[in-house]
Amino acid sequence: MHCGILVLFISLFLTLVGPCELLDNGLAKSPPMGWIAWERFRCTTDCNVYPDNCISEDLFMAMADKLVEDGWKDLGYQYVNIDDCWSALVRDVNGKLQADQDRFPNGIKKLAEYIHSKGLKLGIYGDLGHSTCGGYLGTLPETIDIDANTFAEWEVDMVKLDGCNSNSTERSIGYPKMSHALNSTGRAILYSCSWPAYEDGLPPKVNYTLIGQLCNLWRNYDDINDSWDKVKAIINWFGDHQEDLQPAAGPGRWNDPDMLIVGNFGLSQDQSKAQLAIWAILAAPFFMSNDLRTISDDAMNLLQNKLLIHIDQDKLGQQGVRIKKDQDFQLWKRKLSHGQFALAYLNTADLGEARSFTLSLSPLHIEDCSLGYNIYDVFDKQLVAFLTSNHTHSFRVNPTSVVLFFIRPVC
Ligand code: GLA
Repeated sequence: MHCGILVLFISLFLTLVGPCELLDNGLAKSPPMGWIAWERFRCTTDCNVYPDNCISEDLFMAMADKLVEDGWKDLGYQYVNIDDCWSALVRDVNGKLQADQDRFPNGIKKLAEYIHSKGLKLGIYGDLGHSTCGGYLGTLPETIDIDANTFAEWEVDMVKLDGCNSNSTERSIGYPKMSHALNSTGRAILYSCSWPAYEDGLPPKVNYTLIGQLCNLWRNYDDINDSWDKVKAIINWFGDHQEDLQPAAGPGRWNDPDMLIVGNFGLSQDQSKAQLAIWAILAAPFFMSNDLRTISDDAMNLLQNKLLIHIDQDKLGQQGVRIKKDQDFQLWKRKLSHGQFALAYLNTADLGEARSFTLSLSPLHIEDCSLGYNIYDVFDKQLVAFLTSNHTHSFRVNPTSVVLFFIRPVC
């Protein structure tokens, strides 16, 4: 469809449903945090061969247990999210979605009860299309209301609505319709739209003002996988398109560069820091997709870093931006509440030694507090300098790694 006609169509739709139909759930004032199955556990459905790793109620209950036992929940990781491949292949006699009976013998409502009993929240996955990306039951326009009501009856707390097997016109109708349907259930359900990712993530095909009124978070770009190359590609894409993306984010509405893969097989400890630092600068949702039963202490230390989480969750809710870039280096900056800042020096070179840098605040326009700033190295967990406009701080960044500073005024 010609995009002018599409925009007209969406505006007409919104006029018809009226402003009171916009998503109004009061959720995600800071980027949501939790755990999600997809990147680590994919569409593993053979529980005979993979009894511990198949997509089943046991897996989600086990992760919920770990979120509580190992202190994740207390740090803010509160969602336990089912992704694709959870459903049966046919709807029930009433036309409702149903879970695979072998892998979820007690059904999603019972699983939600279990998750809630742990003080956590349950997320589920749907797809606006005739089937999900993995080939399971999709949500067609005529089942949006019934599916939203089913999720609410099950006491689900978040819905990720994927977009495989649909076209642009169907998405332009279906994503707003699901937003409205979730709102109408009366249950506060966090709504994650994959809509922009299926429209190449950028204006004019994507209207981020509209998306921010309809969804709490949205995937903008390609899927992550367990590799540094993919993390780097996502970082570059978000930097290259920040003029369009940065204004879209704010309390209640977040760009989603995809899951945290820290704790899996593909990233070194240094690369893991880089993913976390840039995701925190981007005010990204922190959804880990890893195995909390076997995660290493090193990975856990990174993911549980309180200052890192504090930066990600900052109340101002302003997404950071890349302020410098050359072939092997990027500098990212995020303005935080109370005159604070985060700075990430990212060394993207994958050859050679650590590279030297010097931090000086005035050229970075961090100068409002004339008394000076305390500089904390987030991953080293220490105060490394006190700087006024006359001082500098020198440090090194390993290849394919980052140094993340938290900068607090003493004023
Ligand atoms: C798409 C999404 C992924 C995941 C899979 C499931 O690729 O982008 O995040 O949900 O579908 O099939």
